[in-house]
Amino acid sequence: MIDEAFWNESYRSGHTPWDFGGVPADFRSFLVEGGKLGRVLIPGCGSAYEVRELLEKGNEAIGVDLSHEAVIQARSILGDVGGEALCQADFFEAPLPEASFDAVYERTFLCALPPDLAMKYPKRIQSLLRPGGLLMGYFLYGEEKDPPPYPMPPEKEQTAFLEAFDLLVSRPSSDPLPIFAGMEFWQVWKRR
Ligand SMILES: C[S@@+](CC[C@H](N)C(=O)[O-])C[C@H]1O[C@@H](n2cnc3c(N)ncnc32)[C@H](O)[C@@H]1O
Repeated sequence: MIDEAFWNESYRSGHTPWDFGGVPADFRSFLVEGGKLGRVLIPGCGSAYEVRELLEKGNEAIGVDLSHEAVIQARSILGDVGGEALCQADFFEAPLPEASFDAVYERTFLCALPPDLAMKYPKRIQSLLRPGGLLMGYFLYGEEKDPPPYPMPPEKEQTAFLEAFDLLVSRPSSDPLPIFAGMEFWQVWKRR
């Protein structure tokens, strides 16, 4: 069962095969080319390298993670720039104000959710983003015989996201970890 205890044990034991150890290239380039994003949410932020990058580039960033151990690790990565940027909570229950974010960054959070919870993700993101806000990051597509991770079949993308978002960019990730190779796409979605 994937619950807080599972994630805590993963971080405590150092068994975190999804951890990139830094900021992946497509997102780094996006921040350089696109300038400031404003107020950015990172659900399931894990070690929070991207929270640090966003803060250093003058954005407001909030990382939310269910796991106490992940938040401890994230604090050590953030160091002095961390401040109020981390929140230990269930993303689906956290009291985040509606339409209050300019952007949401995704990486290996959606694909870590069991399908019943993953179904709630598009609506939750839609409610937190302001109209015109961006959902950007890394999305897994394909089939996995022994999940997790839970990649999305492409038709799920159609029904779940296209109701409220336009797809602006979609291309294979430039530097996927070997475990995600061939499945990971860099995408930018705009909330209508
Ligand atoms: C596969 S890890 C990805 C972490 C990070 N995004 C990264 O790219 O390294 C999934 C993360 O989601 C967190 N998580 C799982 N369920 C969650 C929930 N309901 N709310 C918030 N965080 C959750 C876990 O604790 C874990 O840190």
